[in-house]
Amino acid sequence: MSQKTNVSNNIHWHDLAVTKSDRIQLNGHKSCVLWFTGLSGSGKSTLANAVNQRLYEKQIRSYVLDGDNVRHGLNANLGFSPDDRQENIRRIGEVSKLFVDHGTIVLTAFVSPYQKDRLLARDLVEKEEFIEVFVKCSIQECENRDPKGLYKKARKGEIAEFTGISAPYEEPDNPELIIYSDESSIEASVEQILDYLIEKQIVT
Ligand code: ADX
Repeated sequence: MSQKTNVSNNIHWHDLAVTKSDRIQLNGHKSCVLWFTGLSGSGKSTLANAVNQRLYEKQIRSYVLDGDNVRHGLNANLGFSPDDRQENIRRIGEVSKLFVDHGTIVLTAFVSPYQKDRLLARDLVEKEEFIEVFVKCSIQECENRDPKGLYKKARKGEIAEFTGISAPYEEPDNPELIIYSDESSIEASVEQILDYLIEKQIVT
């Protein structure tokens, strides 16, 4: 299910007249993936949402793909086994690639606990188009916050394969950005990310 091999024959790539660079020119900014990864409760969604709002105010085209939301629709048929998480991330990687081609800054907020799955997503776009944002927060702090009460349930054994409790989280080796979300305010973290986008000339 999670293999990226075509199961259909007789399909041919169709080149389209309007290209990514046409759309980038129209928009006046480049496109990229801001890939937020981290434990549940680390602040990925909050941060992605706050950055997205700032980009919107600057009239920059952006969109948030959030794990909890996408699992209500496109990925409603997936659970939390390693295979299902891999497929979750594979689909989000492919969708992100479409957004980048569309000239949009896409912000993805997924636990994405496995290094190899994140690498596959990274490899789908150009090197400078993938910005991994590790939202680093101790498991103790995430568990204290427990905004959805899920850590409590996981501790009681009511949720299987819960990241950080009964399933692994593999920290990124070399992320473009690290946000220490148990030390840094949301405002400061948003600035850190916007500064990076400006420094890399993705936005002005
Ligand atoms: S991922 O591992 O496949 O990337 P994803 O980001 O889509 O996960 O979904 C994680 C969200 O689902 C968490 O924020 C949490 O609200 C919820 N969730 C439910 N069960 C689990 C679980 N077993 N492990 C982690 N998160 C879970």
